[in-house]
Amino acid sequence: MNYLLSPYTLGDLELKNRVVMAPMTRSRTPNTIPSELNALYYAQRATAGLIVAEATNIDQGGIGGPFTPGVYAEEQVEGWQKVTQAVHDRGGLIFLQLWHGGRVSHPDNIGGRDSVAPSAIAAKGKAFTPNGMKDHVVPKALEISEIKAILQQYKMAAEYAKAAGFDGVELHAAFGYLPNQFLSDQSNQRTDEYGGSVENRSRFVLEIMEALCKVWPSHRVGIRLAPSNIYNDVLDSDPPALYTYLVQKLNDLNLAYLSLMEPTVKEHENPNFIYQVAEYFRPLYHGTIIGNGGLNQEKAELMLEQNHADLIAFGQLYIANPDLVERFRLGLPLSEGDRRTYYGGDERGYVDYQAYADLNS
Ligand SMILES: Cc1cc2nc3c(=O)[nH]c(=O)nc-3n(C[C@H](O)[C@H](O)[C@H](O)COP(=O)(O)O)c2cc1C
Repeated sequence: MNYLLSPYTLGDLELKNRVVMAPMTRSRTPNTIPSELNALYYAQRATAGLIVAEATNIDQGGIGGPFTPGVYAEEQVEGWQKVTQAVHDRGGLIFLQLWHGGRVSHPDNIGGRDSVAPSAIAAKGKAFTPNGMKDHVVPKALEISEIKAILQQYKMAAEYAKAAGFDGVELHAAFGYLPNQFLSDQSNQRTDEYGGSVENRSRFVLEIMEALCKVWPSHRVGIRLAPSNIYNDVLDSDPPALYTYLVQKLNDLNLAYLSLMEPTVKEHENPNFIYQVAEYFRPLYHGTIIGNGGLNQEKAELMLEQNHADLIAFGQLYIANPDLVERFRLGLPLSEGDRRTYYGGDERGYVDYQAYADLNS
């Protein structure tokens, strides 16, 4: 049983294995422009079948956290070119995750502007800012013309990602950021065509996907959903209804993939949640599914064997095991990442985790 290490054809791309490096914010890009340090980090992990690079801001008004990269200016494109070149030189493939924080983009992170969202409802909890943790603010509810402008920003970001040499793009529609704020009925209480019914709440996400597919062939565009996660205080009253509708609509677009995260909440906490996410959506979605969330090699193999997913994304395991594929192949022990250096800092805890062979030489 070695599904994980077998190749996979993703649209017109040949993945050398089914191991995906999950997108991870590491807050190592102080001026929004990716650097040689970022390029080294991704190049070290290029044996993954596919890398999905960290959440990347599509505009200054949507910066989701301090020290995170952007993809809305020429200098950022040049920075990303170093990253994509380094990954390609090592035989890897890399998509970029497109990000807009919406109401959790704290004004301190966006040059003092207003945070924006479908409705003027603050998220519970706090935001990382350069000035410490701060309460989320009450955002400004977007006007229709402003929604259209943000759609345009996504499209521009997709263009920039292409110029930067990425192999594709993924919409971050999970974890309580702007697209997810439109989806959930707690954060979206609009009464126009972007709010109310599941059709209306899905509109923004589907319009973004259509915009991205105008820039890229649809088989180079993915989407990430986390229907059973409430990070950043997004809660929906009926996730099965919402996500069944959305996933079925996504079928029409012939995307590269649907990336799904398994729940982080316990079953008794939200009885109407879906607790086997990939398994639930497998019969509803006709394309490639990436499974993710708390998986190790054994659980990932089982998920592939049971045909609940086609590819498996690993997040935390990739932090301390740049050669994760090789460790899986040879059954080598895994290194433990240091949580204190997950977000922010320098090369320590970022590019100084060694491949197993180097650790023991
Ligand atoms: C440090 C860190 C940063 C993350 N940043 C992102 C991100 O930018 N975008 C995203 O979609 N998920 C992000 N995630 C979630 C991961 O992609 C993944 O879904 C999660 O870690 C669960 O997978 P795992 O159990 O294999 O780690 C992040 C996770 C971690 C640990």
